[in-house]
Order: sequence, then C-alpha cells, then structure tokens
Amino acid sequence: MAKQFLMFGLFALTCSLALTSHPSPLQDFCVANTNAGQVLVNRLVCKDPKLVQANDFSFAGLHNFGNTSNKLGSAVTPVTVAQLPGLNTFGISTVRIDYAGWGLIPPHLHPRATEILTVLEGTLHVGFVTSNPENHLISKVLHKGDVFVFPMGLIHFQQNLGNGNVVSISALSSQNPGIVTIANSVFGSKEPISDDILAKAFQVEKTVIDSLQAQF
Ligand SMILES: *[C@@H]1O[C@H](CO)[C@@H](O)[C@H](O)[C@H]1NC(C)=O
Repeated sequence: MAKQFLMFGLFALTCSLALTSHPSPLQDFCVANTNAGQVLVNRLVCKDPKLVQANDFSFAGLHNFGNTSNKLGSAVTPVTVAQLPGLNTFGISTVRIDYAGWGLIPPHLHPRATEILTVLEGTLHVGFVTSNPENHLISKVLHKGDVFVFPMGLIHFQQNLGNGNVVSISALSSQNPGIVTIANSVFGSKEPISDDILAKAFQVEKTVIDSLQAQF
C-alpha cells in the first residue's frame, strides 16, 4: 500500500514537472527556412541541417540606436525568429528598446512570452496589471542595471522618466512572443469593433469611442 502511494506520488510529481517544464525542441535545432514553399510545421519548416551556417544563429545590429522620432518617442528592435531563423523552436528571443525623453512603450501584452527586462541606460518606470478580479497594478522605477520581469500575457508598459535617452534589453520566453498593443487592438482593428460595443464596454458616449478610433 505504502509502495503504491509512493508510486502515485512519483507519478503526480512527474506530471507536474512535465506540465511546468519548457517543451523540448525535439532536435538540436530547426533553423527556420524563410525561403521554403508551402509545407509548414509550427508555421515554419526547418532548413536542411547540412546547409546550416553560423549566420543562421547570429544577428548583428543591437548596438544601433532605434529611431524614436514618432508619437510615442520609442523604438523597438526585435530579434525574434523573423530576424534570427536559428531561434526557431527554442522558446527564446530578445529585443532592444530605445526611449527618447519621456518616451513610452504603451500598454501591451505578449500572448506567448514572459519578458525579463534590463535597463542599460537611464531611468524607466515600468508596470503590469494582474488579471481579474484583482487588477492590481505592480509598478516600479528602474535605474541602470535594474532588472524587472513581466509575467506572460499580462498588460504592461514602460515609460522614460526623464529628458535623456533610455535603453533597455529584454529576453522573452518565445521565439515568436507576439505583441498585442491594447489601444491598437481595441480602437484600431482593421475591421473596427462597433462603437456600440466599445461605448458599453468603456461606459462612455459613442463620440468618445469614435474620436479614439480615429486616432488608430
Ligand atoms: C527617423 O524617423 C523619422 C520619421 O519616420 C524620419 O523622418 C527620419 O528620417 C528618421 N531618422 C533616421 C536617422 O532614420
């Protein structure tokens, strides 16, 4: 009986480990063949391993400043599987973000990744909001060398708290983390969500929704 109980315990432990561990990529690598034809596996096909080169695992350019001359005063330079095909199946990617004075990365989420951010230069106000029903704002002011983690799928933002430039580097737990910018998705979808729906959802007059939709 005790032995059966132990076996069950081991089984349960194994299951919980399996559920919390990262999925295996199943092979050494699967460099995305960005020139491939029609047959897709996990959205991409693998390049013939015999043809793989060091450049498939490399990206040059994160030393470059992003162009922050835009309404938000920020620039995102992603290095996901789209820029670095060797990342395919590895569940990891990186991004450089430049912020002009008071520049903003507006509220957004990554549907497939947790993000760990390091401030390389400047002072950055960051925050995320926990899910319903608490909707608790967790925020902090970061300085050079500080690290902050945004949990997978939660809405977060970053704001430069000064006139000088800020630079941050993040790692994300997906080769294809995805980004949902809240304002763009809600007010700027290609086929607009009806202002009836949004007026009720946000508890404002339709004219408020129409002017927001006109911005995106
Ligand atoms: C930065 O972007 C702005 C707006 O798109 C553009 O006018 C400007 O030429 C760009 N600057 C550089 C250095 O690329």
